[in-house]
Amino acid sequence: MIPIAKPSIGVEEKKAVQEVLDSGMIAQGQKVKELEDNFAQYIGTRYAIAVTSGTSALHTALLACGIKEGDEVITTPFTFTATANSILFCGARSVFCDIDEETFNIDAEKIEGKITSKTKAVLVVHLFGNPCGMDRIKKICDKHDILLIEDACQAHGAEYKGQKVGSIGDCGVFSMYPTKNMTTGEGGMITTNSADIDKKCKIIRNHGQDGRDNQVLLGYNYRLTDIQAAIGVEQLKKVEGFIEKRIANAKMLNEGLKDVKGIITPKMQAETRHVFNQYTVRVTEDFKISRDELIKKLKDAGIGAFVYYPKPIYRQKYYLTLGYDDNLKMTETAAKEVVSIPVHPNVTKEDVEKIIEIFI
Ligand SMILES: Cc1ncc(COP(=O)(O)O)c(C=O)c1O
Repeated sequence: MIPIAKPSIGVEEKKAVQEVLDSGMIAQGQKVKELEDNFAQYIGTRYAIAVTSGTSALHTALLACGIKEGDEVITTPFTFTATANSILFCGARSVFCDIDEETFNIDAEKIEGKITSKTKAVLVVHLFGNPCGMDRIKKICDKHDILLIEDACQAHGAEYKGQKVGSIGDCGVFSMYPTKNMTTGEGGMITTNSADIDKKCKIIRNHGQDGRDNQVLLGYNYRLTDIQAAIGVEQLKKVEGFIEKRIANAKMLNEGLKDVKGIITPKMQAETRHVFNQYTVRVTEDFKISRDELIKKLKDAGIGAFVYYPKPIYRQKYYLTLGYDDNLKMTETAAKEVVSIPVHPNVTKEDVEKIIEIFI
């Protein structure tokens, strides 16, 4: 079996967890602080705030940015549902913008058409580890005086013009779920250069308390444990190696699939570093069999193949009850055509050859 995702946990992570367990200090403490400091340095921001998941990181970041009832936040409907849900958590409305044909990221050229007097932020997603065109998007946000928040949950280590994603907008958000480029089991991180956002995030993750017995707003328990952080500290040391392996596997897949009629492979652009949290192709009508038949063939051969994402968020049952009725052209096409295949660091050259065989 070649699974679609497999975390790489070594003796270092096990030893680090053992040390924390033996110390008796297992809740948020020194290890969380160490992970935050190292993560901020890696991304290139002044601050990093660890929380329990990518979802709670999104919620915390949006609250810290002041997103509230009556506000609108422009985002992509072609993402994991947590992106849009986090906007709803704040009582705001997710406004969906169509995606780009090549990257499946939010289409920068369509953002301005979605801006109203209620728009407070644009929440971009660097989907599959591929950075959005940040220059254009930042320019639009600056022009309209709205915040830019980066959902980099799938994009640890991705770069846009030499700058790590998560350090370009007002704040960035990462997930450390086991399918991501580095993991803490469950976990999340917010990155920012703003002292104000940093302070608010730290208050929000700890019941709204600014120091002991001093509750200043409505907060949550979104604290990461030192047990999880110990795994994260070791994973962060290895993340560049994991990413290089992902990129090498993606290059082999691109080479092997480049002449297959009806398959559109992901592009690697000179100005960005795509870190391939997922390797996703489009299966068009010109391919010899349908996407579903291809997935069945891959699965029968023991190869994990998944559709991220088969249904745009605005078509989810819950979103229909909220009155969403979007029908965005490229989003619809992508949902019908994409399939992701294994690219993670545990995929070998032989595995890649086996995968390519199925397509030819
Ligand atoms: C784009 C995106 N945003 C948010 C999340 C939520 O992260 P988590 O699962 O850690 O809550 C994910 C996780 O799958 C994601 O892929």
